[in-house]
Order: sequence, then C-alpha cells, then structure tokens
Amino acid sequence: MTTTQRAVLVRAYGGASAAEVAEIAKPAAGDGQVLVRVGAAGVNGIDWKFREGLVQKAFPMQLPAVLGIELAGTVEAVGPGASRFKIGDRVMGPLGRLGAYAEFVPVAEGNLVHTPEDLDDVQAAGIPVAAVAAWQSLHQAGPIAAGQRILIHGAAGGLGGYAVQYAKQAGAEVFATASAAHLDYVRSLGADHVIDYRREHFESVAQDIDLVLDYVGGEGLDRSWGVLAPDGAIVSAAAPDILARTPVGHRGLWFVNKADAVLLARLVAEIAEGSLVPKFSEIVGFNDIPAAIEGNRIGPRIGKVVADFSR
Ligand SMILES: NC(=O)c1ccc[n+]([C@@H]2O[C@H](COP(=O)([O-])OP(=O)(O)OC[C@H]3O[C@@H](n4cnc5c(N)ncnc54)[C@H](OP(=O)(O)O)[C@@H]3O)[C@@H](O)[C@H]2O)c1
Repeated sequence: MTTTQRAVLVRAYGGASAAEVAEIAKPAAGDGQVLVRVGAAGVNGIDWKFREGLVQKAFPMQLPAVLGIELAGTVEAVGPGASRFKIGDRVMGPLGRLGAYAEFVPVAEGNLVHTPEDLDDVQAAGIPVAAVAAWQSLHQAGPIAAGQRILIHGAAGGLGGYAVQYAKQAGAEVFATASAAHLDYVRSLGADHVIDYRREHFESVAQDIDLVLDYVGGEGLDRSWGVLAPDGAIVSAAAPDILARTPVGHRGLWFVNKADAVLLARLVAEIAEGSLVPKFSEIVGFNDIPAAIEGNRIGPRIGKVVADFSR
C-alpha cells in the first residue's frame, strides 16, 4: 500500500508558483471522520487569496497547507465514532477547512452528504461551497420578502450564479453586475436587470435596493451604500473589512459560510431534479490545479472550475 499521495501544497505565501503539486503523507480518518478517496474538487475564487495569505485574519491557516475547500468522492475508510457512511458510499461536501486538493482526505462526517445518483463526482464537487454560501449570504441579513430589490455584484461567478436563482425563487427583483460577455448568462438565470459594470454605473439602474450581495469587494462595494433603501443592508463575502467600511447609519455584514449538511442536501436535491442550474466553466486535471487557481484570480469566466482527479 502506498503511504504517500499527490497534493496541491503551499509552503510559503505568494503568487502563481506558490501552489505546487507535491507528494505528502497519506492520512488516516480521525475521530468522527471518514477518509474520502477524492474523485473531484471544486476550484474556488478564494483559493488564490489563501495562496497569497490575503485572508489570514478571517480564515487562519498554518503553512505548509494543502489548498482546496470542497470535494466529491468515495468513502475509503471510516474513523472511530463515525457512523453515517460506510466504505464505498459516494459523498460530497465542504471540508470546513483547507485540504481538498489531495487524493485522500479525512473529512468530518457531519459536513458530508450522499451524492445523488444523477450527479457524477465532477458535477458534485463544484456545488457545496458556492450553493451553500450563496443561499446563506442571501438570507444572512434577514428573511427575503417577495418583491424586494436585490443587487448582486459578481453575478457571473460561482456564488453569484446560485444567488441570482435563489433570489428569483424568493420572488425578488434582481439587479446583477457582470462583464459584457457574461450578461446573457446572468439574464438566463433569471436576473431582471443586468449591468455591465465596466461600461455602466450600476447606480444609474439600481436604486432603493433592499439587499446588496457583494461577491467582489473593491470600489463597487463602497459605491453601493448610495443605492440602498432606508432599511437596506449590504452582505459581503469578499470584503472581510466591511464593518470598518460601513458608514454610520448603514447596515453592513461580513459573511462567513458555515457547513450545513441539511441545507446542502436540500440544495443538491434541487440540482439533481433540475430545478436549479449549476454552471461549470472548465474541467481541469489534477496537475493543472495550480494554474486553475491562478486563472480564477485573473478571470474572466463564468461559473465554477472543477478539478477531475481521474485526468
Ligand atoms: N466569506 C466566505 O465565507 C466566502 C465563501 C466563498 C467565497 N467567498 C468569496 O466570495 C467571492 C466570490 O467567490 P466565487 O467563488 O463566486 O468567485 P468567482 O467564481 O471567481 O466569481 C467572481 C466573479 O466576480 C466577477 N467580477 C469581477 N470583478 C467584478 C466587478 N467589478 N463587478 C462585478 N463583478 C465582477 C467576475 O465576473 P466577470 O468575469 O463577469 O467580471 C467573476 O465571475 C470571492 O471573493 C470569494 O473569496 C467568500
């Protein structure tokens, strides 16, 4: 039996070359964990920020670290005290920590759900973080009432694509920013108003907004206070310093997604039955993960990139 495995490792924070494919020790399942033989892992917009050390305050990590935050695969071993899954079960979920870009990964069983038969590992691996984070961030500031106006920055991305669909399901009027090449895609998800952020000021289209979902950060966030309705709020998944940037009299909330297997199972079922559409922009092989992480930083693209470990 081999005792080492391939992983995408960061030894020191840095640019594109700081993430490398390396051999590391193969782990065992700990208490309450299952060891997953990974079939595929989702590549996320936050991976390059971990690589560069930009999110250390919000999400502390110790080096060296294996990157990757979500996966799908097959249970290889069951640790002490774990009872929800058996060897051979197909599972998917977020890790709730780093480490998904490795061939074998121990995962707290409470984070995982059974992968529906209709989804293969590549389809499943790109769902957990984006779908759950989009749903949770949409509802963080309070219940959504039908007819509310929601502005989504970064609507073409992994989180944004789901958020547009969840906001429409909730009966909201959706304003969405994206680059020109992605406007048709965002419109196809149900957005009522699409705004090319490079050519148009979103303020000229979106006003009296009840909720801004910020998946981008930067100056778009700072300009968004001006479009809020009196009781409106901004929830940001991209700017950990949103509280410091919130003007007096406004409501700004920093979002951190939490593993929630019950919610994930529900959202995955909607995808498996076809009432919610996941979007994959690219499937890459294991050795191409470092390049895909950098590709996410420089964009542009729509939906999720997924790494297929069989390639
Ligand atoms: N806090 C948390 O718990 C948490 C969890 C998951 C993700 N995140 C964060 O959430 C953000 C989104 O993640 P993701 O995985 O969805 O990223 P992603 O797939 O890389 O999507 C980002 C999208 O932003 C768009 N964009 C870039 N600049 C823009 C601008 N000025 N205005 C409007 N859209 C712009 C891009 O679309 P175009 O190509 O059309 O420009 C791209 O599709 C990232 O910052 C990530 O770090 C946070």
